[in-house]
Amino acid sequence: MMDQASGLRELVAKNSTTNSKFITIASGKGGVGKTNFAVNFAYTMANSFGKKILLIDADIGMANVHLFLDADPSKNIKNLFSGEPIESIIHHTYGFDTLLGFSGIEDIFEMEDVSIQTIVNELEKISSRYDYVIIDTGAGIDQKVAAFLRASHKAYIITTPEPTALMDAYALIKSIYNIYGYNSFKIVVNMCKNKEEGELTFNKLKVSAKKFLGIDLELMGILLYTNNLRHAVKNKELICMRYPKDPYTQNIAAICKKELQLQEDRSENFWRRLFDMVGKSGS
Ligand SMILES: Nc1ncnc2c1ncn2[C@@H]1O[C@H](COP(=O)(O)OP(=O)(O)OP(=O)(O)O)[C@@H](O)[C@H]1O
Ligand SMILES: [Mg+2]
Repeated sequence: MMDQASGLRELVAKNSTTNSKFITIASGKGGVGKTNFAVNFAYTMANSFGKKILLIDADIGMANVHLFLDADPSKNIKNLFSGEPIESIIHHTYGFDTLLGFSGIEDIFEMEDVSIQTIVNELEKISSRYDYVIIDTGAGIDQKVAAFLRASHKAYIITTPEPTALMDAYALIKSIYNIYGYNSFKIVVNMCKNKEEGELTFNKLKVSAKKFLGIDLELMGILLYTNNLRHAVKNKELICMRYPKDPYTQNIAAICKKELQLQEDRSENFWRRLFDMVGKSGS
């Protein structure tokens, strides 16, 4: 029985390090605040919660995370294709690690599935060093976004209360669910006037997803519209660093807490189920 338990323990350890820490940030509509969310979420997880974070700018062809981090964009994902080791292109800024993307439409056409596979393979090598790997993607879904979603286990969908953003968020969820059978979506409603507007927006999405797809959505958090974020962006700063008292900053911290709590519950449940199994088979 001890052998069986230690085997299962190993399995859980493997499962929790390889699966549950990849978070892909996606949206239906563009410009809803994914990149700002991703960078500030990474910053807060690292600096307020002491987590080891790797942020990946996977908005292939339109990368812009480097603007927030004041990092040299010439060291980026593309270098992997010429055989550079992943360690040499990782940036270390503001307490977390970042793998930058690249810009330029001509480069997108050079990228094939093989290239995406190269990225995923390289990531597998280093991901065990991190508590979370946060992946910022471009709007909508294409093969590249899908590849990152497939490699991760959590999809955070960002929307705003705008009807078009909400419609596109639903369409994205529907596509991902229909194509990949994904059914664990975490929703963040951004640019809300107040908490009530965020809740109303989430409920509309939740009701449609339940009624037409039969899936339960989970609200991760509500982020308010704030001019401080615009100021921070203009000055190439992170709002969470520059304006620690802004409600946006506090809401990001609340989302981090919720994520960490979910992670804990998940592994606790997993353990409990496994020990139940061991108990039953040993008796
Ligand atoms: N909570 C907010 N309050 C005020 N403005 C915001 C907020 N969130 C985002 N914005 C504004 O929206 C702009 C776009 O945000 P961001 O670049 O994060 O969106 P995105 O979803 O990553 O866009 P894309 O689809 O182009 O990648 C920001 O530059 C900022 O001006
Ligand atoms: Mg973006």
